[in-house]
Amino acid sequence: MKLSKAKIIAVTSVKGGVGKTTTVLNLAGIYASNDKKVLILDMDLYSSAISVMLNLDPTNDIYTLTDDLNNNRFSELDDYITKYNKNIDVIAAPKDIRMSSRISCSYIPVILSKVSLIYDVILIDTNHFMNEINLTLLENSDSILYVVTNNPIDLKNMRSMISIYKDMEKTNYSILLNESIFKGRHIYTKNDVNKFLKRDVDYYISDRFNIKDIDKYISNGVILTLDKKIKITYKKAISTYKYMADSLLLGKED
Ligand SMILES: Nc1ncnc2c1ncn2[C@@H]1O[C@H](COP(=O)(O)OP(=O)(O)OP(=O)(O)O)[C@@H](O)[C@H]1O
Ligand SMILES: [Mg+2]
Repeated sequence: MKLSKAKIIAVTSVKGGVGKTTTVLNLAGIYASNDKKVLILDMDLYSSAISVMLNLDPTNDIYTLTDDLNNNRFSELDDYITKYNKNIDVIAAPKDIRMSSRISCSYIPVILSKVSLIYDVILIDTNHFMNEINLTLLENSDSILYVVTNNPIDLKNMRSMISIYKDMEKTNYSILLNESIFKGRHIYTKNDVNKFLKRDVDYYISDRFNIKDIDKYISNGVILTLDKKIKITYKKAISTYKYMADSLLLGKED
Protein backbone atom coordinates (compact mmCIF):
# COMPACT_ATOMS: atom_id res chain seq x y z
CA MET A 1 0.00 0.00 0.00
CA LYS A 2 1.23 3.45 -0.96
CA LEU A 3 1.64 5.74 2.04
CA SER A 4 2.64 9.09 0.57
CA LYS A 5 -0.01 11.47 -0.67
CA ALA A 6 -0.93 11.64 -4.38
CA LYS A 7 -0.58 14.79 -6.44
CA ILE A 8 -4.05 16.09 -7.23
CA ILE A 9 -4.23 17.89 -10.56
CA ALA A 10 -7.45 19.53 -11.79
CA VAL A 11 -7.75 20.30 -15.49
CA THR A 12 -10.14 23.14 -16.12
CA SER A 13 -10.88 26.12 -18.39
CA VAL A 14 -12.84 29.32 -18.75
CA LYS A 15 -14.65 28.10 -21.88
CA GLY A 16 -16.02 24.77 -23.07
CA GLY A 17 -14.56 22.59 -25.82
CA VAL A 18 -10.93 23.66 -25.43
CA GLY A 19 -9.38 20.22 -24.96
CA LYS A 20 -9.63 19.56 -21.19
CA THR A 21 -10.73 15.94 -21.44
CA THR A 22 -8.18 15.15 -24.15
CA THR A 23 -5.47 16.77 -21.99
CA VAL A 24 -6.51 14.71 -18.95
CA LEU A 25 -6.27 11.52 -21.01
CA ASN A 26 -2.96 12.49 -22.61
CA LEU A 27 -1.43 13.28 -19.21
CA ALA A 28 -2.80 10.01 -17.80
CA GLY A 29 -1.08 8.17 -20.67
CA ILE A 30 2.27 9.81 -19.90
CA TYR A 31 2.06 9.10 -16.15
CA ALA A 32 1.01 5.51 -16.83
CA SER A 33 4.00 5.02 -19.17
CA ASN A 34 6.21 6.20 -16.30
CA ASP A 35 4.65 3.46 -14.18
CA LYS A 36 2.69 5.86 -12.00
CA LYS A 37 -0.68 4.74 -10.66
CA VAL A 38 -3.23 7.18 -12.01
CA LEU A 39 -6.83 7.84 -11.09
CA ILE A 40 -8.99 9.87 -13.45
CA LEU A 41 -11.87 11.43 -11.59
CA ASP A 42 -14.54 12.46 -14.08
CA MET A 43 -16.21 15.50 -12.58
CA ASP A 44 -17.67 16.81 -15.80
CA LEU A 45 -20.97 15.80 -14.27
CA TYR A 46 -23.41 16.91 -16.94
CA SER A 47 -21.66 15.92 -20.14
CA SER A 48 -19.09 13.39 -19.07
CA ALA A 49 -16.79 12.05 -21.75
CA ILE A 50 -14.10 10.00 -20.03
CA SER A 51 -15.97 6.66 -20.00
CA VAL A 52 -17.11 7.18 -23.57
CA MET A 53 -13.64 8.13 -24.77
CA LEU A 54 -12.09 5.12 -23.04
CA ASN A 55 -14.86 2.68 -24.05
CA LEU A 56 -15.64 1.87 -20.43
CA ASP A 57 -18.88 0.58 -19.01
CA PRO A 58 -18.79 1.55 -15.32
CA THR A 59 -21.08 -0.21 -12.88
CA ASN A 60 -20.61 2.45 -10.22
CA ASP A 61 -19.78 6.15 -10.41
CA ILE A 62 -19.15 9.29 -8.38
CA TYR A 63 -22.85 9.62 -7.53
CA THR A 64 -23.17 6.06 -6.16
CA LEU A 65 -19.94 6.64 -4.23
CA THR A 66 -21.21 9.82 -2.53
CA ASP A 67 -24.62 8.26 -1.97
CA ASP A 68 -23.11 5.16 -0.34
CA LEU A 69 -20.83 7.31 1.83
CA ASN A 70 -23.88 9.30 2.90
CA ASN A 71 -25.89 6.19 3.77
CA ASN A 72 -23.12 4.19 5.44
CA ARG A 73 -23.11 1.62 2.65
CA PHE A 74 -19.52 2.32 1.58
CA SER A 75 -17.16 -0.56 2.22
CA GLU A 76 -14.24 -0.28 -0.21
CA LEU A 77 -13.09 2.07 -2.90
CA ASP A 78 -12.50 -0.72 -5.40
CA ASP A 79 -16.27 -1.06 -5.80
CA TYR A 80 -16.37 2.36 -7.49
CA ILE A 81 -13.30 2.03 -9.70
CA THR A 82 -13.44 1.14 -13.38
CA LYS A 83 -10.11 -0.10 -14.77
CA TYR A 84 -8.72 1.12 -18.10
CA ASN A 85 -5.34 -0.58 -17.95
CA LYS A 86 -2.75 -1.73 -15.41
CA ASN A 87 -1.95 1.84 -14.30
CA ILE A 88 -5.06 3.85 -15.12
CA ASP A 89 -8.28 3.68 -13.09
CA VAL A 90 -11.38 5.81 -13.46
CA ILE A 91 -14.13 7.01 -11.17
CA ALA A 92 -16.83 7.75 -13.69
CA ALA A 93 -19.28 10.66 -13.77
CA PRO A 94 -22.89 9.63 -13.18
CA LYS A 95 -24.31 7.44 -15.93
CA ASP A 96 -27.67 8.96 -15.15
CA ILE A 97 -27.15 12.75 -15.32
CA ARG A 98 -30.29 13.30 -13.24
CA MET A 99 -28.17 12.16 -10.29
CA SER A 100 -25.46 14.78 -10.93
CA SER A 101 -27.22 17.56 -9.08
CA ARG A 102 -27.53 15.29 -6.03
CA ILE A 103 -23.77 15.06 -5.54
CA SER A 104 -22.85 16.85 -2.36
CA CYS A 105 -19.67 18.95 -2.27
CA SER A 106 -19.03 17.87 1.29
CA TYR A 107 -17.86 14.41 0.13
CA ILE A 108 -15.25 15.73 -2.30
CA PRO A 109 -12.47 16.26 0.31
CA VAL A 110 -13.33 12.87 1.85
CA ILE A 111 -13.05 11.09 -1.49
CA LEU A 112 -9.85 12.91 -2.44
CA SER A 113 -8.17 12.02 0.81
CA LYS A 114 -9.15 8.34 0.42
CA VAL A 115 -7.84 8.07 -3.16
CA SER A 116 -4.70 10.06 -2.32
CA LEU A 117 -3.40 7.15 -0.28
CA ILE A 118 -3.64 4.70 -3.16
CA TYR A 119 -2.58 6.58 -6.30
CA ASP A 120 0.45 8.61 -7.37
CA VAL A 121 -1.57 11.07 -9.42
CA ILE A 122 -5.24 12.05 -9.38
CA LEU A 123 -6.34 13.79 -12.57
CA ILE A 124 -9.67 15.58 -12.32
CA ASP A 125 -11.62 16.38 -15.45
CA THR A 126 -13.97 19.32 -14.84
CA ASN A 127 -16.29 21.52 -16.82
CA HIS A 128 -15.75 25.27 -17.15
CA PHE A 129 -18.52 26.46 -14.81
CA MET A 130 -17.62 28.23 -11.58
CA ASN A 131 -20.13 26.29 -9.52
CA GLU A 132 -19.75 24.98 -6.00
CA ILE A 133 -18.59 21.54 -7.11
CA ASN A 134 -15.83 22.97 -9.30
CA LEU A 135 -14.76 25.51 -6.68
CA THR A 136 -14.50 22.72 -4.11
CA LEU A 137 -12.48 20.59 -6.54
CA LEU A 138 -10.08 23.45 -7.32
CA GLU A 139 -9.75 24.30 -3.64
CA ASN A 140 -8.77 20.71 -2.89
CA SER A 141 -6.30 20.28 -5.77
CA ASP A 142 -2.55 20.71 -5.49
CA SER A 143 -2.23 22.01 -9.00
CA ILE A 144 -4.73 23.53 -11.44
CA LEU A 145 -4.17 23.43 -15.17
CA TYR A 146 -6.14 25.92 -17.29
CA VAL A 147 -6.49 24.95 -20.93
CA VAL A 148 -6.98 27.91 -23.26
CA THR A 149 -7.20 28.31 -27.01
CA ASN A 150 -6.40 31.36 -29.13
CA ASN A 151 -10.07 32.29 -29.10
CA PRO A 152 -10.58 35.97 -28.05
CA ILE A 153 -13.46 35.17 -25.65
CA ASP A 154 -11.42 32.44 -24.07
CA LEU A 155 -8.43 34.77 -23.67
CA LYS A 156 -10.50 37.62 -22.21
CA ASN A 157 -12.02 35.29 -19.64
CA MET A 158 -8.61 33.84 -18.84
CA ARG A 159 -7.25 37.34 -18.28
CA SER A 160 -10.03 37.97 -15.74
CA MET A 161 -9.29 34.66 -14.10
CA ILE A 162 -5.61 35.61 -13.76
CA SER A 163 -6.60 38.78 -11.88
CA ILE A 164 -8.90 36.76 -9.61
CA TYR A 165 -5.97 34.46 -8.77
CA LYS A 166 -3.81 37.52 -8.12
CA ASP A 167 -6.44 38.98 -5.77
CA MET A 168 -6.67 35.69 -3.92
CA GLU A 169 -2.86 35.45 -3.84
CA LYS A 170 -3.11 31.94 -5.26
CA THR A 171 -0.33 30.76 -7.51
CA ASN A 172 -0.92 27.03 -7.85
CA TYR A 173 -2.20 27.22 -11.40
CA SER A 174 -0.62 27.00 -14.81
CA ILE A 175 -1.81 27.66 -18.35
CA LEU A 176 -1.69 25.42 -21.39
CA LEU A 177 -2.23 27.12 -24.74
CA ASN A 178 -3.81 24.41 -26.87
CA GLU A 179 -3.79 25.22 -30.57
CA SER A 180 -4.29 21.63 -31.62
CA ILE A 181 -8.09 21.72 -31.90
CA PHE A 182 -8.50 24.63 -34.30
CA LYS A 183 -5.91 24.05 -36.99
CA GLY A 184 -5.48 27.11 -39.20
CA ARG A 185 -8.41 28.92 -37.58
CA HIS A 186 -6.56 31.17 -35.17
CA ILE A 187 -5.13 34.60 -35.81
CA TYR A 188 -3.16 35.06 -32.59
CA THR A 189 0.32 33.63 -32.16
CA LYS A 190 1.68 32.33 -28.89
CA ASN A 191 3.47 35.68 -28.43
CA ASP A 192 0.20 37.58 -28.96
CA VAL A 193 -1.42 35.38 -26.32
CA ASN A 194 1.41 36.03 -23.84
CA LYS A 195 1.12 39.78 -24.44
CA PHE A 196 -2.65 39.70 -24.08
CA LEU A 197 -2.53 37.72 -20.85
CA LYS A 198 0.41 39.83 -19.59
CA ARG A 199 1.95 36.55 -18.56
CA ASP A 200 3.68 33.75 -20.44
CA VAL A 201 1.71 30.57 -20.92
CA ASP A 202 3.38 27.65 -19.17
CA TYR A 203 2.82 25.03 -21.87
CA TYR A 204 2.07 25.12 -25.55
CA ILE A 205 0.68 22.47 -27.90
CA SER A 206 0.86 23.72 -31.48
CA ASP A 207 -1.64 23.01 -34.23
CA ARG A 208 0.81 20.49 -35.65
CA PHE A 209 -0.73 18.15 -33.08
CA ASN A 210 -4.09 18.47 -34.81
CA ILE A 211 -5.18 14.91 -35.46
CA LYS A 212 -7.58 14.73 -38.39
CA ASP A 213 -8.85 11.25 -37.61
CA ILE A 214 -9.07 11.79 -33.84
CA ASP A 215 -12.58 10.29 -33.81
CA LYS A 216 -11.10 6.96 -34.94
CA TYR A 217 -8.88 6.93 -31.83
CA ILE A 218 -11.80 7.96 -29.63
CA SER A 219 -14.12 5.28 -30.97
CA ASN A 220 -11.40 2.69 -30.29
CA GLY A 221 -10.90 3.97 -26.72
CA VAL A 222 -7.26 4.85 -27.43
CA ILE A 223 -5.24 7.36 -25.36
CA LEU A 224 -3.17 9.36 -27.86
CA THR A 225 0.01 9.45 -25.75
CA LEU A 226 -0.07 5.64 -25.43
CA ASP A 227 -0.46 5.04 -29.15
CA LYS A 228 2.70 3.83 -30.97
CA LYS A 229 1.96 5.63 -34.24
CA ILE A 230 1.06 8.93 -32.55
CA LYS A 231 4.20 8.76 -30.40
CA ILE A 232 6.37 8.46 -33.51
CA THR A 233 4.51 10.99 -35.68
CA TYR A 234 4.05 13.74 -33.07
CA LYS A 235 7.32 13.58 -31.09
CA LYS A 236 7.32 17.30 -30.23
CA ALA A 237 3.80 17.30 -28.75
CA ILE A 238 4.55 14.09 -26.86
CA SER A 239 7.65 15.68 -25.34
CA THR A 240 5.57 18.72 -24.30
CA TYR A 241 3.10 16.40 -22.58
CA LYS A 242 6.04 14.70 -20.83
CA TYR A 243 7.44 18.05 -19.71
CA MET A 244 3.99 19.19 -18.55
CA ALA A 245 3.40 15.92 -16.67
CA ASP A 246 6.76 16.25 -14.86
CA SER A 247 6.35 19.90 -13.94
CA LEU A 248 2.75 19.43 -12.77
CA LEU A 249 4.05 16.76 -10.41
CA LEU A 250 6.59 19.17 -8.99
CA GLY A 251 3.96 21.92 -9.06
CA LYS A 252 3.78 25.39 -7.58
CA GLU A 253 2.07 25.27 -4.23
CA ASP A 254 0.46 28.15 -2.35
N1 LIG B 1 -5.20 17.19 -30.89
C1 LIG B 1 -6.43 17.25 -31.38
N2 LIG B 1 -6.66 17.18 -32.73
C2 LIG B 1 -7.91 17.23 -33.23
N3 LIG B 1 -9.02 17.34 -32.49
C3 LIG B 1 -8.87 17.41 -31.15
C4 LIG B 1 -7.57 17.38 -30.52
N4 LIG B 1 -7.74 17.46 -29.17
C5 LIG B 1 -9.07 17.53 -28.98
N5 LIG B 1 -9.75 17.50 -30.14
C6 LIG B 1 -11.21 17.54 -30.32
O1 LIG B 1 -11.72 18.79 -29.84
C7 LIG B 1 -12.97 18.60 -29.20
C8 LIG B 1 -12.92 19.18 -27.79
O2 LIG B 1 -11.97 18.43 -27.02
P1 LIG B 1 -12.28 18.00 -25.54
O3 LIG B 1 -13.55 17.21 -25.46
O4 LIG B 1 -11.04 17.38 -25.00
O5 LIG B 1 -12.52 19.44 -24.90
P2 LIG B 1 -13.17 19.80 -23.48
O6 LIG B 1 -12.58 21.10 -23.06
O7 LIG B 1 -13.05 18.66 -22.56
O8 LIG B 1 -14.71 20.00 -23.89
P3 LIG B 1 -15.95 20.17 -22.87
O9 LIG B 1 -15.87 21.57 -22.31
O10 LIG B 1 -17.15 19.98 -23.75
O11 LIG B 1 -15.81 19.12 -21.81
C9 LIG B 1 -13.27 17.11 -29.22
O12 LIG B 1 -14.13 16.82 -30.29
C10 LIG B 1 -11.90 16.49 -29.44
O13 LIG B 1 -11.97 15.24 -30.09
MG1 LIG C 1 -14.49 17.62 -21.46
